[in-house]
Amino acid sequence: MTIGFILNGEDVTIQTEANFRLVDILRHNFKLLGAKEGCLSGRCGACSVFYNGRVVPSCMIPVFMVQGNEVVTIEGFALTEEYQDIIGGFNQAGVRSCGYCDTAKILAVESLLAANPRPEPDEILAAFDGALCRCTEPETLARGVRAAAEIRQRRIYGRSV
Ligand code: FES
Ligand code: FES
Repeated sequence: MTIGFILNGEDVTIQTEANFRLVDILRHNFKLLGAKEGCLSGRCGACSVFYNGRVVPSCMIPVFMVQGNEVVTIEGFALTEEYQDIIGGFNQAGVRSCGYCDTAKILAVESLLAANPRPEPDEILAAFDGALCRCTEPETLARGVRAAAEIRQRRIYGRSV
């Protein structure tokens, strides 16, 4: 079937089987490798993308559902100032980074800060529920998110608010 959607701000059209997974389409048709094939069952977050503005596991989205909708991958998000806020916060706090979990962690933080610019520690930890990383301590992740929030506030308002 023919499927048209918006990918990282561009209108795209593909010919594909309706039940292929979005993660496979992103990786194989578009060579966007930031969404990883991890558990392929919606648990690890390695395949995360923004789908109409919400973070979802792209391994759980059959591509026919994407028709007419908007997908932003980590490659698209990496072009934004919001991405730089998060990387800056992670670097300040010493959050570990690897090709497997980065996409999940970064998109989880963006989703959290977009809705809640000053999250509490329990809200921060809850935001990482679907973003599996066994090698960064929760306290370090929380410090990274708070640092990212500070960087963002200074960028937008010129100071912490
Ligand atoms: S590969 Fe999609 S959630 Fe793990
Ligand atoms: S840094 Fe990637 S799994 Fe922890």
